[in-house]
Amino acid sequence: MSAPILPGSAIGVLGSGQLGRMFAIAARRMGYRVHTLSPDEDTPTGQVSDVEIQACYDDLDAVRDFARRVAVVTYEFENVPLATAEAAAECAPVRPAGRVLHTTQQRLREKTFLAAAGLPVAPFRAVRSLAELETALGEIGVPAVLKSADFGYDGKGQFKVDAAGQAAEAWQAVGRREAVLEGFIRFEKEVSVVAARGMDGSFAHYGVIENEHARHILDVSVAPARVSPRVANDAVEMARTVLEKLDVRGVLCVEFFLAAGGRLVINELAPRPHNSGHLTFDACLTSQFEQQLRAVCGLPLGSTEQLRPAAMANLLGDLWQDGEPDWAAAAAIPEVKLHLYGKLAPRPGRKMGHLTALAADIATAEQRVRAARSALARRPG
Ligand SMILES: Nc1ncnc2c1ncn2[C@@H]1O[C@H](COP(=O)(O)OP(=O)(O)O)[C@@H](O)[C@H]1O
Ligand SMILES: [Mg+2]
Repeated sequence: MSAPILPGSAIGVLGSGQLGRMFAIAARRMGYRVHTLSPDEDTPTGQVSDVEIQACYDDLDAVRDFARRVAVVTYEFENVPLATAEAAAECAPVRPAGRVLHTTQQRLREKTFLAAAGLPVAPFRAVRSLAELETALGEIGVPAVLKSADFGYDGKGQFKVDAAGQAAEAWQAVGRREAVLEGFIRFEKEVSVVAARGMDGSFAHYGVIENEHARHILDVSVAPARVSPRVANDAVEMARTVLEKLDVRGVLCVEFFLAAGGRLVINELAPRPHNSGHLTFDACLTSQFEQQLRAVCGLPLGSTEQLRPAAMANLLGDLWQDGEPDWAAAAAIPEVKLHLYGKLAPRPGRKMGHLTALAADIATAEQRVRAARSALARRPG
């Protein structure tokens, strides 16, 4: 095995959003330098990095140049094109490898991989035309969800089909491009497992996190999840299988639906730290971001021990609707931590930051984080 990449080295991050920002904060705390590349400037990641390169992902010369200046390249955004990861890999190791990106960035490949690995997924069909959608609806039945195969996030490119007569509307809604039709799962709750795998094949996980979505966007997460020990164990073992079969060197999150009777169904994978793991920043000995750093640098993984029960609430751009949120009010609630991503335009639905609350039990943590978020929306004066 090659020697670990030690503090003082430069790490390259493809993508420049909040995941890269929190990664950069963790990396700088340990004395690494961080370079980021994305098409944007003054980005959440760039603001806290040593070097911010503004280039398109398909500017492969810029990507190679970027990779030559760092010891390892990772990513915070799974829609980086495979060609970009491959160009970077000519000049530096890319972790997780481009093939992990390739499998997980397209829903059809991802589901095909999961099904082939014997892991539980919702029934699904590939859809490439309206006629195929009609056939698939006949096979899967309604309700079902049509999702564009590429570039989905926060519920974008999705349409819930409640009646077979909605096929044309659904096909239009996902942009008439390659899609996946999947059966609708009547879940009791949604949960996730954030896990890491080191260069030596070691595995670490943060247990099960419970997630509540609003308008298809993650709203609140709590950990540890209120699930049975059997469900927790099954979810972690499925995550382990995913990381091993994909040969991940880095962090990956598995999103699950938990249906009646403790039945777990894998919804999707993210080959990077995940929004549901943001609470690890304040609640765990080693955050998911430091864990990504350790994994891609070939260092031993850190302890994932959770110090106290925790809850996280996202702050979306909608909160700015009537002006600047009341930061002082949230800061006045002890045991609540404020994270803001440095984004300049607070558009509705855009993830601008989050709050984390710690408490003696998860119910109190959740209540505290929701109270802090409500306090933000009340204007001073
Ligand atoms: N097959 C399904 N059955 C029930 N709910 C679903 C299904 N697919 C998606 N959803 C809901 O929509 C949310 C977003 O879907 P997801 O596939 O995770 O897309 P994204 O990439 O936008 O996160 C899920 O977290 C869940 O709440
Ligand atoms: Mg999702």
